[in-house]
Amino acid sequence: MCGIIGYAGGGNAAAAIYKGLLNLEYRGYDSAGLAVMENGKCRVVKSCGRVEKLNASLQFLSGNTGIGHTRWATHGKPSNSNAHPHTYGKVTIVHNGIIENYAELKSKLLAEGDVFSSDTDSEVLAHLIDKFYDGNLLSAVVKCADMLKGSYALLCMREGKDEIVAAKYRSPVILGYGEGCNYCSSDLPALAGNCGRVCVLEDGDFAEVTASYIRICDRTGKEISREILPNLAEPAELSAGGFPHYMLKELWEAPATVKNTVKLFESCKTSALAALSGAERIILTGCGTAYHAALAGKRYIEEFCGIPCEAEYAGELRYKTTPECGKTALIAVTQSGETADTVEAARLFKSLGAKVTAVTNSPHSAITRLSDAVVRVAAGTEVCVAATKSYSGQIAALYLIAALLKGDDGEMTKKVEKAPDLILNALQQVDIYTLAEMCSNSRGVYFLGRDIDYAVALEGSLKLKEVSYLPGSGYPAGELKHGTLALIDEKTLSVFIITDEKLAAKSSGAVEQVLARRGKVAVLTNIDGVRGAFENRAEIITLPECDKFLSPLVSAAALQLLAYRTAVIMGRDPDKPRNLAKSVTVE
Ligand code: M6R
Repeated sequence: MCGIIGYAGGGNAAAAIYKGLLNLEYRGYDSAGLAVMENGKCRVVKSCGRVEKLNASLQFLSGNTGIGHTRWATHGKPSNSNAHPHTYGKVTIVHNGIIENYAELKSKLLAEGDVFSSDTDSEVLAHLIDKFYDGNLLSAVVKCADMLKGSYALLCMREGKDEIVAAKYRSPVILGYGEGCNYCSSDLPALAGNCGRVCVLEDGDFAEVTASYIRICDRTGKEISREILPNLAEPAELSAGGFPHYMLKELWEAPATVKNTVKLFESCKTSALAALSGAERIILTGCGTAYHAALAGKRYIEEFCGIPCEAEYAGELRYKTTPECGKTALIAVTQSGETADTVEAARLFKSLGAKVTAVTNSPHSAITRLSDAVVRVAAGTEVCVAATKSYSGQIAALYLIAALLKGDDGEMTKKVEKAPDLILNALQQVDIYTLAEMCSNSRGVYFLGRDIDYAVALEGSLKLKEVSYLPGSGYPAGELKHGTLALIDEKTLSVFIITDEKLAAKSSGAVEQVLARRGKVAVLTNIDGVRGAFENRAEIITLPECDKFLSPLVSAAALQLLAYRTAVIMGRDPDKPRNLAKSVTVE
């Protein structure tokens, strides 16, 4: 993971890099650092914690070329010494990815007498490049890359020259062409507003970047050309627009996301149909929240189209015995389009002959480049690490895909068009404060539901854990009695989601089982009978009435609000929860 950025130009490199790092913080925020080339010498500043801690040092740095890094720790705890950039000899590097064979490389270097100053996998890169340098930085980086197993987006400088060398394998590097300056970055947000044109490096590419030119080449040093595209990235929003947190702002943007996703779907239909029709089996994949949306998508496609479907975590799917791909189509769900497990699962299935459809919020991401079809989620930028509006957009997009495959005559689309108002009703009417207090006073919070409500229960649980750090899980309500019931006592809270008339009696039975064991209970429902049954025995959250299959949109709105309020009561930062990052680009 981590975010990297390089700048070579006529301006102040430290200021440009700092600005870029602020926009890359969603990739990690446990420590940050930057290095600038000042009169041929490399000056490095680092800090544990958020990027803004570097601000105080910027005034002391004056070079025109530099590299920076914001970290999500993989190897070695968050600390000053483990923060990037790493320097060895005359070489300074920043790295995003994982060097899987670093231990082996490091022990050889140690045997040669090298001294290491960090616990990271990345530091070996600086050592190797310094050793291989014989007058040409690019060829030293190539020699180093030849020795690596794993993934890397690497930026490197060597004392004496205002030049950055970039290398890319399985972690993204984007080059930006500015006015009198050039950039390299992990992602587009850091380049928004800075350069009109960008170029996405492919695996195995290298590049030399200076103020006056960008030269892309292969491992032999031969220049290669890559398509140069207009930079469509919008400058990041600089504030939460009057809301105390981005999470609150963004969950209120779910109605607009669904509305715009429906609009955009028109332009995605033809390619989605081409990629998915004729499939005898559809696999949906994703990670975290995106996987939870995939679970709902599986139900839609099975229910409406009768096509056998599976939903699988991308990190698991990748390592299953070689999948049978004849007439199989893959739907990869990912907000960022950069999640390593999801991208690699999609790459694997594509290589096996499956057509890949991406459901993504990021039109210029790795997933869009390798997919046969792209169905756009129109959430706009989602800054908060916890996914909110993007989940709503994914649910809407997957529902529309199922409608398309079914050959819907417009009825299903009309239902989704009404969903924004339902979400708004849920956000306006749901009174979640008491339940948030209950959560904050609980030792564990369990989320339970059946069928589509179970998919939402998983998401409700993830959201609460992520932003409040309260332990808990999501379970199918029917599974409770098969083990989880042992956890229930008066200090635990069980949150039931009951929106399906057909299964309401069964889920209500599970509520009774928890109450009988003195467990605290909340019920989120839009069914009168359920409300009546538990009125004075549980905290009741009334949801707007809605189609059973679109209920994830309204119940998730309430659960996102619940997670947010609980986090605030508990004094957490819901936008940047500890240990996490928005975009998970390592396995
Ligand atoms: O960008 P992606 O949708 O691929 O991200 C997948 C997960 O990392 C993400 O949904 C994560 O679970 C969220 N932080 C949950 O709120």
